[in-house]
Amino acid sequence: MEIFSSFMDPGGGGEMLGRYVHLLAGITWIGLLYYFNFVQTPAFAEVSDATRSEAMRTITWRALWWFRFGALLTFLSGIWILGAQRLLGERFDDFWTTPSGLSIAIGAIFATVMFLNVWLVIWPAQQVIIGSARQVAEGGEADPAAAARAKPAARASRANTLLSIPMLWFMAFTSHYSTRYGAIDDSSLVVVLVLSLIILAVIELTALGKIGGFDSPLAKQLFDKHRDTIVAGFVVWFILFVIGYEFIIGAS
Ligand code: HEM
Repeated sequence: MEIFSSFMDPGGGGEMLGRYVHLLAGITWIGLLYYFNFVQTPAFAEVSDATRSEAMRTITWRALWWFRFGALLTFLSGIWILGAQRLLGERFDDFWTTPSGLSIAIGAIFATVMFLNVWLVIWPAQQVIIGSARQVAEGGEADPAAAARAKPAARASRANTLLSIPMLWFMAFTSHYSTRYGAIDDSSLVVVLVLSLIILAVIELTALGKIGGFDSPLAKQLFDKHRDTIVAGFVVWFILFVIGYEFIIGAS
C-alpha cells in the first residue's frame, strides 16, 4: 500500500496520518474552547445556581474530558509531524530560518503555551470548582478554595481563545502560503520572532495575573468580554502577519 511506503520519510504516510489526527484532535479541542467561551460562560451567567451546578456536573465535566485529551493529542500529533518532517533532527538548521520555519515556530509556540494553560491552569482549577459543586449537590459544604480558582481558569481560557486566532493562521499558513516569501534576512527574522514572543508573553502574563493582577485594565480589556477577546485576536494576527510577514519579511 502506497501509504506505508516511505512511511517515516518527510512527506510520507506517517506525516499525512499525523496531520489527519492533528486536525481531528485540534477541532475537538478548539471547538470545545469556543463552546466554553462563546456559549457556556454567557449562558452560565444567566441561569440559577442550581442549574449551573447541575450543568457543570453533567455537561462541563464531560466536555472537559474531550477538551483536555483533545489538547494532548493535538500537541503530540504536532510534535509527531515535526519529527516526521525531520525538523527536530537533520533538517533543523536549514528549516527554522525560512518563512515556513518561522511561521510554524510561531504557531507551535503559541499552541504549546495554550496546551500548558489547559493542563496546568484550566483543568486543575475546574477539578476544584466542579468537585465543590459535587460536594454541595451531595449535601456537603462548598470547598472554600473553589471561588478563588474561577478567575484564573476564566482568564487562561480567554487567553487561549485570543491566541487561537493568530495560532491557527500560522498553522495553515506554513504549508499553504509562506513559501511565497523569499529568504528572510537575519535581522528581520529576529525582529518578527522577538515581536511574537513579546506579544505572547504580555498576553500570557496578563492572563496569569502577573501584570497588575487578574483585574488590571489590560486584563479586563482583553478578557472580560468574549467579543473584545476576538477583536484582540485579530489585532495580534494583524501585527504578526500583516506587519511581520508583509512589511518586515516581505521587504527583507
Ligand atoms: C499544541 C501544539 C501544536 C504543535 C506543536 C503543532 C504543530 C504543527 C505542525 C508541525 C504542523 C505542520 C505545518 C506544516 O508543515 O504545514 C501543523 C499544522 C497544522 N496545525 Fe498544528 N500544532 C499544534 C497545535 C495546533 C492546534 C491547537 C490546532 C487547532 C486546530 C492546530 C491546527 C493545525 C492546522 C489546521 C494545520 C495545517 C495543516 C495543513 O494544512 O497541512 N495545530 N501543526
